[in-house]
Amino acid sequence: MSDAWSPTQYERFRAERAQPYWDLAALVEARPGMLVADLGCGTGELTAELHRKLQARETLGIDSSQAMLAKAPQGPGLRFEQQDIATFQPAEKLDLIFSNAALHWVPDHPDLLRRLTGALSPGGQIAVQMPMTDDLITHQTASELARSPEFRRLLGGYVRRTPLLDPIRYAAWLYRLGYARQHVRVVTYTHLLESREEVVEWVRGALLTEYQKRLSAPDWDRFLARYRQLLIPQLEDEHPYFYVNPRILLWGALS
Ligand SMILES: C[S@@+](CC[C@H](N)C(=O)[O-])C[C@H]1O[C@@H](n2cnc3c(N)ncnc32)[C@H](O)[C@@H]1O
Repeated sequence: MSDAWSPTQYERFRAERAQPYWDLAALVEARPGMLVADLGCGTGELTAELHRKLQARETLGIDSSQAMLAKAPQGPGLRFEQQDIATFQPAEKLDLIFSNAALHWVPDHPDLLRRLTGALSPGGQIAVQMPMTDDLITHQTASELARSPEFRRLLGGYVRRTPLLDPIRYAAWLYRLGYARQHVRVVTYTHLLESREEVVEWVRGALLTEYQKRLSAPDWDRFLARYRQLLIPQLEDEHPYFYVNPRILLWGALS
């Protein structure tokens, strides 16, 4: 399967996408000389800022996309590697596992959280942010299109659904995994986009990459055109366009 992530497309909404990153970072308790991993770090630009903000000893950013990592910044104590979160195993125990808008691409969250917790040192922290967007019209429309006779066969029956569960379950898992202190909240982020057409560009930078990488170039072009045709009439034709994006933020500290 090809790598459909594009830094140019993703960064079209750079400021809007950065806000949850910093809201998540604000939950982290900075300690001297931390060893940090940023899972699904994307271009690494925010990772480098986090590294400086925490004055970490070492920060490792991992991402599965070579395109996203291509221009990763350099700096003392900062490292980037192309790796899959699903098989990530750090050589040394970490003080902080941070992940913004990436773990919803990885299946089986109880198992994932258990594994990541095993990679933390005593007192270690986990901080995760993920969009809760499966029920939004943008995501429902993509699912319906994927299930349509035209694309079901081409996609081999694949329909993107995140492995997210409700906030209560995450709170319970964090407790059972030994996070003596925790914080779980859902934030409804609101953005003013230029027009409803921009919603397609937003979704294209993330959710739709899952369909793009499974389709040939001509089939992907048709998918995108059809998606636009189906979605746009369902959105208010207003300027600016009021776009809503609920996200879950999880933080925990081991005792
Ligand atoms: C929405 S972007 C978030 C990037 C960055 N964390 C930020 O906040 O700007 C999601 C990133 O997760 C990466 N990703 C998705 N699945 C992954 C996996 N299984 N392992 C590693 N990276 C993954 C994608 O390549 C992409 O760069």
